[in-house]
Amino acid sequence: MPAPLVIANWKMNGSLEKNARLLNQLLTKLDTLEYLEVGICPPFPYLPQVSDHLSQSRINLGAQNVSAFEAGAYTGEVSAAMLREFGCRYILLGHSERRLLCQESNDQVTAKFEAVLKAELTPVLCVGETLEHRQRGESESVVSTQVQTVLDRVGIQGFANAVIAYEPVWAIGTGETATPEQAQAVHAQIRRILAGHDAAIANQLHILYGGSVNAANAQTLFSQKDVDGGLVGGASLEANAFLEICKAAHPGTHFDL
Ligand code: 13P
Repeated sequence: MPAPLVIANWKMNGSLEKNARLLNQLLTKLDTLEYLEVGICPPFPYLPQVSDHLSQSRINLGAQNVSAFEAGAYTGEVSAAMLREFGCRYILLGHSERRLLCQESNDQVTAKFEAVLKAELTPVLCVGETLEHRQRGESESVVSTQVQTVLDRVGIQGFANAVIAYEPVWAIGTGETATPEQAQAVHAQIRRILAGHDAAIANQLHILYGGSVNAANAQTLFSQKDVDGGLVGGASLEANAFLEICKAAHPGTHFDL
């Protein structure tokens, strides 16, 4: 299993001043967590600022969205090649806020996944069911369709350099977290789907949990067998909370930051 991974999704938050303060509080401390991968996904305009801050650090830059197209008349869109030029490694795809607010379909998310692979960046495929799905007992089928649609198009090799984030929609920004057992069940299901095609790729793939991860619940979530780290929204905007979450993901957390 590779080192655990924690990705901060700042969503549409921040300012030049706030970002600088947060990064100054985070970076030297995060760099001491040697057996942990960390990514930070700021809004597009702040990519150069955050990239500058990260240049002397082990932390990777990421983006929150990408166009499925390479170039052309797509007003307001940003291509994978552009994100690569600004030093991005991770690209979030199919976040539930985009699936819901922008009506992104599984097919569109798949096209973006392909664009990210083509630019040799790492897609972070976000999947997850709504509360209605869960209440109807459809969590497994919704998540498996979201994964399978991409798998059908890119094949299992497309997941050799990818990340999957399970983010139950009902847990995002609500303060309500999936129980460790609920998270583990879905993560194991995702890994099983991929292992049916290639066990080695399935075993080395990071499957992150996202949805109201905080300093208090991170440890128990990350201790689940198939939970390889987290995708963190609100708590990633607060230095101490994010550091605690990263510490919880790092194996052997017997030190102070
Ligand atoms: P919260 O951590 O604020 O619930 O957001 C989770 C998320 O959507 C990360 O992508």
